[in-house]
Parts: sequence; C-alpha cells; structure tokens
Amino acid sequence: SRIGPCDIVVFGGTGDLAVRKLLPALYLRDRDGLLPRDTRIIGVSRAGLEDVGYRVKVSGELGHALPPGTADPLAIASFVRRLHHITLDVGGRFTTEEQAWRDLVVALADSGRTRVFYLACTPDLFGPICKNLRRWGLINPGARVVLEKPIGHDLASARRINDEVGSAFTEDRIFRIDHYLGKETVQNLLVLRFGNTLFEPLWNSGSIDHVQITVSESLGVGGRVGYYDDSGTARDMLQNHLLQLLCLVAMEPPVRLDPEAVRDRKLEVLRALAPLTGAAVGRATVRGQYTAGTVADRPVPGYIDELGGRPSATETFVACKAEVRNWRWAGVPFYLRTGKRLDRHAAEIVVQLRGVPHSIFPGVPPSALAPNRLVLRLYPDESVELHLTGKRPGPGELRLQPVPVRLDATGDGRSRFPGGYARLVDDVLRGDPTFFMRRDEVEAAWSWVEPILTAWSESDCPPVQYAAGTAGPDAAADLLERDGRSWA
Ligand code: BG6
Repeated sequence: SRIGPCDIVVFGGTGDLAVRKLLPALYLRDRDGLLPRDTRIIGVSRAGLEDVGYRVKVSGELGHALPPGTADPLAIASFVRRLHHITLDVGGRFTTEEQAWRDLVVALADSGRTRVFYLACTPDLFGPICKNLRRWGLINPGARVVLEKPIGHDLASARRINDEVGSAFTEDRIFRIDHYLGKETVQNLLVLRFGNTLFEPLWNSGSIDHVQITVSESLGVGGRVGYYDDSGTARDMLQNHLLQLLCLVAMEPPVRLDPEAVRDRKLEVLRALAPLTGAAVGRATVRGQYTAGTVADRPVPGYIDELGGRPSATETFVACKAEVRNWRWAGVPFYLRTGKRLDRHAAEIVVQLRGVPHSIFPGVPPSALAPNRLVLRLYPDESVELHLTGKRPGPGELRLQPVPVRLDATGDGRSRFPGGYARLVDDVLRGDPTFFMRRDEVEAAWSWVEPILTAWSESDCPPVQYAAGTAGPDAAADLLERDGRSWA
C-alpha cells in the first residue's frame, strides 16, 4: 500500500548513529524515489542549529558516510531540503526546554502525517522522551517509535525502559531496531531455509557438526569511547546482533512470515539457550581487550591508551560457546565471536556439516575430506557459498578438490542497501515489525547475557590482552581446539 507523507523525528539528530547510518539510509531511499512524498525529517539535538545549519552539516557528513558511488550532489541537495532541526536538551530539567517541546508540537501540527519518533540516543533518555511525547500530545494514532540498541544496560534497566516506553506506545508501535536483521544475507538465510527443501532435512544435530558466527571489526572504539567503556562488546554486539543471528539459524519454521510467528520462534531459541553461569562462564567464554598494534600497516593505540590511560576491565572482544537445548540442536555448539581492532573486517555465519563417515578414496582418510560448509557472508560482500568436494578435472588418478558454489542470486555480492538500515526504515514506515525485536526477545537475550557479565565482574581475571591487528586472543582459538575444532 502507498504510504502517505511522514514526519520522521530523530532524537540524537546530530549523533554518530544518525549521521553515519540513519540519514544515509534515508538519503538512499529518497534518491531512489522511495521515501513517501513530502516526508520531513526533524533532527532533535542539543546542537543549537537552525534548519540551514543542520542541512549544511548533514550534507557535509553524508559525503563521508555514504557507500562509494552513491553520493549524487543533486540528490543530496534535494534530500537535505527535507531536514529541519529543533534544539532540545531532552535530559535537561530547565524550563527553557518547555519552549522547545512547544516548537516540536508546532512543527508536527499537521496531524494527517504519519509520525515516526526515532530514538537514536542513549537508552537512559528513552523513558523521558516517551513521557514528554505523551505529555505534549504528540502520539497520534498512527505514531510509532524506533528504539536503537542496546535497550538498557542489563535485564532490570531493559525492563524499566520497556515499561516506560510501553506506557506511551503499544507494543505493535514499538520498533526495536537491530540493523543486522535488515542485512541482505540475514534475510536471505530465512528464504534459503524455508523457501527450499534442500536444507531443512539436514538442519539439525544429525547432519550439522557446529555453527560459527563471527563479526570481526578492524576499527577501534574511536570517538565512542565514553559509550563503549560503559558498555563493552557483550552489551554492544553479543546481546543483540550475534544472538539475533543465532536465532535465525536455529529457529523452528514459523507458520508464516508475520511479526508474531517469526518472533515467537526466535524467542523459543533464546529461551532454550543453556544458561552460562558461575564457573561455566570461565570455560565457555573468552573476553579480550586490545593493546597497541598495527592495523593495515598503521600503528594504532591500545584500548587503555584511548581511554587516556585509565585502567578498565571493559572487553573489546568476546568469544563464547553457546548451546541451544532442544530436540533439534542438542549437542551442536554455536561458537560466537566478535571484537574490535582485529586483523580483518568481516562478518559471516558458517554452518559446518558433519564429515563423511568413511572414505572410499584410496589414500584419502575421511579427515582429509573437508566437511561441507554453508557460508553466509554479511561482510565484506553479501554472499552465500556452499563448500563441496569435487573431482579435479582430467584423466588419470582420481583427484579431489574443494569446490565453492555460490548460491546467491546476483552473484556480485553487492547490496543496493548496504548496512541494513534502509530496509528497516522502510519497514517502520510500512508499519511491519517482523524484523524488529519484541520486548520479550530483548529481555530473554539479557537474561542469558547478564550472568556472563556478572561472572566476569566477580572474577579476579581481567580480560586477556590481544594486540590490535591480530585475530584476537589465543584463548578464542583454544575454545574450539578443546573441542577438536577450529575457526573457519
Ligand atoms: C553497532 C555497534 O550496533 O554495530 C558498533 O554499536 C558496531 O560497535 C556496529 O561497529 C557494526 O555494524 P556493521 O553493520 O558495521 O557491521
């Protein structure tokens, strides 16, 4: 159905997330003629900018944030005309803020437009913002709210925030975004699994040996050190992105692709995760922190240097072994790892099948036949590859070779909507929460992660160090080696 004009109000409108991810995504939709006609984007921040200043700032920053080849000066000029700015200190207690809320009320006066309140700011502000939106009568019947992750800092704060937001918006109007769910490969995983008959009979502990999920970043924490040191990799990546990927790999078939059916199935996976508590945390997890090193031939400082030398036990790397305790997955480990300042920027899901039980090839032991692997790559390219063994062409003695088969439709691995945001913003405008996290999912994910955080903070062992530009701590390799396996 055609969507009428929208007002997208971005709290945190000058922040890192708005500028690097959200506004570029909105620009790409606009450039392709896919933003609803007359849509306006109202940035809200403390920046003290007029509309013009905001437009200048955003058009300057879009140039850096957009994927190569997508910055079209004319399209940017036309996009920034949609932008407005309201200066408002949401956390501020001064009466001057009342005027700013009134400005927002005036700016949104035309009630015929769909209102999207996009909270691209710290989760502590979600409650206060929603309270004010209600108080100022800004939540009209079609209004929806988008919450950026992480929702809270732990289970209790997530519950509190969910309550606060829930007292202003009904659950079907709350879009908790995890941009990994908007990535092409991630959505394709659902289609591969449930749009074919080839995989599903094999998709269980009978055929699958283990699953690996890796999100490796070469960037450091850079300008986000304040946020990051409070948060760490487990809260920033594991609690949301990695667990969401795990859910899509492990979930049972939903009855249909609708928001409740899909999210019910994901929730079951989260609830089936074997709890990691106490001493088990030491055995099944690795937390690391980078020290100075070299990334892409450039010397880079260590994490503590970036903090200005202040000691910190915040992790910049996590690896763990998770188990989904249900009929389908019992005994199949899910190895997860993610970190900053690693040797490469890459993200992939590897589903490794069991090896052949017996080799018919003279001189080739079964262990020499590489197990089949399905590799779903999210970055640097978006692709799906099935790793098979084939015959090396030619006469004479039968020789074997690995044969990677590309399974993705376009084959060039390039996405028109890199990153996931553009697709998800579109879902918000259409009002479809299928690829957003429901309250119970977020809380179930915290329930699993929180005991790990507790065990870490109670342990005497600090994070293990790894030099920037390496593959992470050796302990992460040991985690798999102990099981007779290795990272792909
Ligand atoms: C964000 C995290 O959610 O995801 C960042 O806060 C991380 O720390 C980013 O860098 C990674 O996203 P992507 O799409 O670049 O892999």
